[in-house]
Order: sequence, then structure tokens, then C-alpha cells
Amino acid sequence: MKVKERMLITGGNPLEGVVHVSGGKNTAVAVIPATLLADAPCTIENLPDIEDVRALVDILRKLGAVVDYVPGDHMTVDPRPADGWQVAFHEAQRLRASYYLLGALLGRCGRAKVAYPGGCKIGSRPIDQHMKGFEALGAETGDVGGYYTVEAKELKGADIFFDVVTVGGTINVMLAAARARGTTIIYNAAKEPHIVDLANFLNSMGARIKGAGTDVIRITGREHLHGTTYAVIPDQIETGTLMIAAAATRGDVTVTGCIPQHMEALTAKLLEMGVRVSDDDDAIRVRCSTGPQRAVNFKTQVYPGFPTDLQQPMSALLTMAKGTSIIQETIFENRFRHLDELARMGAHVRVMDRTAIIEGVPQLYGAPVTTTDLRAGAALLVAGLMARGVTEIYEPEYIDRGYEHIEEKLTSLGAVISRERIED
Ligand code: EPU
Repeated sequence: MKVKERMLITGGNPLEGVVHVSGGKNTAVAVIPATLLADAPCTIENLPDIEDVRALVDILRKLGAVVDYVPGDHMTVDPRPADGWQVAFHEAQRLRASYYLLGALLGRCGRAKVAYPGGCKIGSRPIDQHMKGFEALGAETGDVGGYYTVEAKELKGADIFFDVVTVGGTINVMLAAARARGTTIIYNAAKEPHIVDLANFLNSMGARIKGAGTDVIRITGREHLHGTTYAVIPDQIETGTLMIAAAATRGDVTVTGCIPQHMEALTAKLLEMGVRVSDDDDAIRVRCSTGPQRAVNFKTQVYPGFPTDLQQPMSALLTMAKGTSIIQETIFENRFRHLDELARMGAHVRVMDRTAIIEGVPQLYGAPVTTTDLRAGAALLVAGLMARGVTEIYEPEYIDRGYEHIEEKLTSLGAVISRERIED
């Protein structure tokens, strides 16, 4: 029997109150594999309790690590007993970030065989730059029968110039280079906040990484990395999704525990729309005035530009803005699939190649819609909160991959959301 779920949202309630943001997904999925590089137990705090984290716990245990995971509290990984170096298809498929096991295992034991990763189908998502980086460090790489392989007798620091700015490639090379002999310099590196967080985590284990957050990162490898206790940074994309949801429902929400500096690209666009945004040290308040929200144009870019991960929820907000918004998606070639679903709810949208044109309508209406990927799910949540009537979101499991307790959080702000099982 196939059991699926659907989420039901009765829209129209302004979200009001205070909500605390969880730890960052994209940091968590890099830091957890990085524990394999240590010679002693590592404790990670502020991890979000999401499906991607649970999948990594299973993978690390399969590799032989001892993992003590208390959701909502901490995870301690003792990597010392780990003797595995292979990640099977059914494990790797559970998340995109399973490919970080390539860098982490290469750094740890000089070899890895990892099945193609899963994750969101938002483009072709090649990993040629990761492999180029591993090869520069002295590894032989392979891509046969649905598995990537990497193997090196000895990893040696090297200069690596990425052809494209890649978050995953930067992280994977940092992981392997942290245990290489000599210094690795990554040019054209990604600058996202989670790159800086991973560097801080590795440095807290004794690594020597400088320049994270700029486009040149220097990594001096160490033969041994020690254990550490580290709390990951708050989730930039969850913060942004909550900010957008507040604006979409014309509410008044304060997101606490966040880093306002990471949100500048979104904050600028919300202000341009006429939404009121103010921030404190670690909190952002989003309030709406009664007037119409204005359409805006934006282009997704690498950090500190507008993040591609917020493009989808932002596009939902713009479906009811006054005027025509133009969005250019420059990072992934297939990240507009949610727009077909928004059209079912009455949105006026057209897509031409990597550009979406959204003509604002006065009202969205609840409809059955299907989630196609994680942030598409976030977009449908935002649309459901704005719509008149009941929105049924099918395949809400995608949302669970990246948002911790999202229904509870939104319900605490006044949203009407429930989930039910569908049996057929
Ligand atoms: N690219 C290549 N070759 C490579 C690597 C990337 O051509 O070897 C291209 C990709 O095809 C894409 C662009 O470079 O067009 C950027 O890809 P990047 O490697 O930066 O993305 P990623 O590592 O696959 C991570 C996040 C994504 C987020 C992007 C961009 C994780 C696990 N995933 O993906 O997060 O959208 O960076 O910021 O950290 C999400 O959270 O919903 C999500 C998809």
C-alpha cells in the first residue's frame, strides 16, 4: 500500500508574532561529513531536525562511525571506528549533500566510492569542478555505473581555479584539502555563509583555513584534526522564507536567532516592494503597511546576490504584487517548475527560458498543487498562506528535507495548517 501525505492550508490569516530560526541545513550537511576528518569525537549543536540530517546520520553509522543524535539538542560523532568508504545508491539518493562523502572520505582514508546523489531536480547539476579539484590534489577519479570514485595514495596541496562558482565544489575541495600535505588555494571560490561556517568548524578542529567568505580560500592541510564542539549558524533560507511569508500574509513577524547581514539581498527587495523591514543584532522584523506591494525585478546570483533558494518563495509573493515582476534564474536551469502550480491557484506567469514574467493578480485561490522540490514546496506554502480558501499541497515530504517543524512554526504565528495521510 502506498501511503502519501498532503498538507492543507487555509489561507488569509496575517502571520503575527515571534519565531525562532533553526540551524542551517546547508551548513549542517557539510559539517556532519566533515566530522569524519577528525581523530576524536566531534559534537555539533544547533542542527536542524530535518530529513537531510537524518539521512546523513544513517550514512555515517553505515560507514562505522558511532553517532549519538539527540534531535533538537546535539549530535556527537565518534569517527574513530569508521572503516567504510562506500556509500550505496539507496543511501546517497536520499540527499544531494551525500557527495560531500567524496571529499570527506578522500581526506580521511584516501578513497571513496559514492553513488550519484539525490536532491532537488532543478537542473543537470554536474560535479565536474569537484572532480577537477580532487584531481588537482592528486586523486584519480572515476564515474562508472552510477558511482563516483576518488582515490589517492597521498593528497598534495594545489592551486585550483574553478570555472564556475560552486558551493558544493568549494566545500568538497575544502574537506579533502584539510588533510592534504601542503597548501591548497581555491580561486573563484563560493562565498556563501555556510562556506565560512564550514571553515570555522574545520579550524576549530585544528585546520588552517583562511579567506573563507572571499573568492580566494587558502587551506593548509594537517595530518591530524582533533575533536571539537561547534554550533552551526542559523538557516539563511529558512529566515528568508519566514520573512517572505510574513510579507505575503501582510503580517507582523519577528524572526529571532538569525543573522540579518546574510539577508541583505532579500531585505533590499522587500523594502523596494514597500514592505517594512527592520533589524536588530540577531532578529529581523517584517511588517506590512496597508497599501499595495509593488512588483520588483531580480536576478539570482551567488552570495551576496539574491539567493536562488529564495527565488521560488519570492516568486510566490510577487504573484499578488501590483505590476509586472521579471525574475532571471542564473544559477539553475530548471527552477521554475513551481510556477505551473502557482498558475493553478490563479497566478499569471509566463516562463521564457530562464526568465519568469509574473503579472500580479489581486487574489490567489486555494487549489490542489504538487511539490516538485524543496524550495518549490516553500513557494507553495507561501502561496497557500496568501490564497483565499484551502490549498492542498501534495508531496509535502520535500519540505521536510529542509525546514524543521515548519507547520508548528507557522501555526504558532496564526497560520491554519494540517497534514493528513492519503492511502490508496
Ligand atoms: N556546477 C557545475 N559544475 C560543478 C558544480 C556546479 O557546472 O562541478 C554548476 C551547477 O550546475 C549550477 C551552478 O554551478 O548551475 C551552481 O551550483 P553549486 O555547486 O553552487 O550548487 P550545489 O552545491 O549543487 C548548493 C546548495 C543548493 C543551493 C546552491 C546554490 C547544498 C546541499 N545545496 O547546491 O541548495 O541552491 O548551492 O546556492 O548546499 C536548497 O537548499 O534548496 C538547494 C538546492
